[in-house]
Amino acid sequence: MVAAAMSSRSPVIGTRVRSPSATAARKTALPVQKSVFFGSCRGVVFNKAVRLPRQSRHRAQIKSEDEAEAVEEKEQKEESPSVSSSFDEAMAKKGESIANSAEWKALMEHKSEIDKTHLRDLMRDEKRWKACVREVDGIYCDFSRQRITEETLEMLLDLAKKANLEEKIQAMFSGEHINSTEDRAVLHVATRAPPTESIMVEGKDVVPDVHDVLDKIKYFTESVRNEEWLGSTGKPLKDVVAIGIGGSFLGPLFVHTALSTDKASKEAATGRRLRFLSVDPVDVARSLNNLDPETTLVVVVSKTFTTAETMLNARTVRAWLVASLGESAVAQHMVAVSTNLKLVKEFGIDPNNAFAFWDWVGGRYSVCSAVGILPLALQYGFDTTEQFLAGAWSIDDHFRSAPLKENLPVMLGLLSVWNVSFLDCPARAILPYCQALAKLAPHIQQVSMESNGKGVDIHGNRLPFESGEIDFGEPGTNGQHSFYQLIHQGRVIPCDFIGTVKSQQSVYLKGEIVSNHDELMCNFFAQADALAMGKTAVELRSESCPDSLIPHKTFTGNRPSLSILLPELNAYSTGQLLALYEHRVAVQGFVWGLNSFDQWGVELGKVLASRVRSIVNDARNKGRRIESSDGLNVSTQELINKYLDGKAELLYPEAMDVFPCDILDSDYCNPPTSKSSSI
Ligand code: F6P
Repeated sequence: MVAAAMSSRSPVIGTRVRSPSATAARKTALPVQKSVFFGSCRGVVFNKAVRLPRQSRHRAQIKSEDEAEAVEEKEQKEESPSVSSSFDEAMAKKGESIANSAEWKALMEHKSEIDKTHLRDLMRDEKRWKACVREVDGIYCDFSRQRITEETLEMLLDLAKKANLEEKIQAMFSGEHINSTEDRAVLHVATRAPPTESIMVEGKDVVPDVHDVLDKIKYFTESVRNEEWLGSTGKPLKDVVAIGIGGSFLGPLFVHTALSTDKASKEAATGRRLRFLSVDPVDVARSLNNLDPETTLVVVVSKTFTTAETMLNARTVRAWLVASLGESAVAQHMVAVSTNLKLVKEFGIDPNNAFAFWDWVGGRYSVCSAVGILPLALQYGFDTTEQFLAGAWSIDDHFRSAPLKENLPVMLGLLSVWNVSFLDCPARAILPYCQALAKLAPHIQQVSMESNGKGVDIHGNRLPFESGEIDFGEPGTNGQHSFYQLIHQGRVIPCDFIGTVKSQQSVYLKGEIVSNHDELMCNFFAQADALAMGKTAVELRSESCPDSLIPHKTFTGNRPSLSILLPELNAYSTGQLLALYEHRVAVQGFVWGLNSFDQWGVELGKVLASRVRSIVNDARNKGRRIESSDGLNVSTQELINKYLDGKAELLYPEAMDVFPCDILDSDYCNPPTSKSSSI
């Protein structure tokens, strides 16, 4: 099968057969990794590899002589007692909300103390500042501009202990079914675990399965990039269209946007294009615009392979391919990423040309599975994606093993709980001073809001507080010129400022006093202080500000933010940032007592849309209006009628399976607006 897959005409990707190159890659020499007994965490014993220098601990980087040691390490781990079932026991008491705990109540009281403080004063305390800085594998984080004292931090850590946070983190890494409403483990961390790790789900180590899929991705993407796997007419497949929505789109788009201007990644992508197709017919037109079906590879990404928008888009693009190249071309031009290989087959894609993932990877947490790695490896090469995975794993490893106080995702998660539940700040702004992070906020919107936007706790009890955060953001400094007004003088919205020491693009013009990146970063530094310190009436008067303008020009300050500084934005640090946010969200959910890993709230709309689809189909085919007998309320009924009346005014050509190649420039993109028009 491997030989067959190497043939340019073969439509089948070698499955579960380790390619020689992949096997060799596992044995690539790198710094020696020594195994030691690491320690215990509340009675949970686990082993851990000695921390190696940054970027040197991942799968392709393990020295072969260490493999025996690693196997031994795995065996020890399997013999170790599993995480105690205290997770279930502790949380099983129905009605016992964290909000009833003494720790929560103490924080509520403490809040009135904090209300008497101002960041202007708190920021003068150097000891406090030291307590508010963490540096983890190159990520420098300063949260001294949060409305906290050292006592607040201690009290939040007490709350974390009360919420059994350590046990919950270990339960996640141990494959317990912490997504209880779907009876699933939550193991996106396994998708970036190096092969020396062992992560058990129902008695089975899933890490080898993860690496089998990674090997398959490596093998396939190298075949495409090396022009061994060709299109049906023998041309190289230079363009990739990835079709997906939600978690099957936002994460990969975030990473693609982060890497497309990174020097090494950009070089690796020379001559290649990656586009994402997510939503509507306009998106179809945009993503196919100027693409040649002969050189286009389509990746259909859907965990369930049932998502209506994705499947319609997949059928549309399939029709576009078939119209030019014939039915037989599908085998060479379409592959899939899914957990549902049965539906992949029914769609007409050979399951051998599908890349699996598992129900223990949530959609919004799936960017490190084949969902993200396949399209990204096609564009940037497998080595780049390995760096990305290594970065994510670096934070995973830190998250599972660092003491709570030193644990960056834990501290950030606790601070978010503090802001939301105690300081009553319902929103959070994600503000990267780095254009390449333009898609971080849209991705985190899903990760955070789909995870923690819940009304009940994990046992189904109504929450006595509001959970979750309204996440939004834009890269700076554009945000400054739009919504920062509200953040400075309107509502209090805790901000995450994210910057880099090195820009992906260095520009320093002769005669300018700072480089272009310095200019940007000056804003990164200044904004955090403007929010924290504000500007008083006294200061304004000393600047001879007219009395009438003083109320308008006063800044109250005392507005919380935190600053994250990365050495640079590359594949590795993109992975770190991703995992940092994912785990921070998990920490919030663990403390609030939620199931952060289900998403029942998205289901009702889908069901109703399905019902509306049948009614619209019937009404449009019969040229009739919606009536009360259709069972919709009068508002929806008349809204749809308004829509259908408008549609009746448009003249469409007969349903076509054929798309013009240059779809945006085609007349077909401009349906006539009156019955008299013709096409
Ligand atoms: O509707 C929400 C959701 O289920 C997300 O959780 C998921 O990321 C998205 O839809 C896409 O689902 P799928 O990958 O199954 O197409």
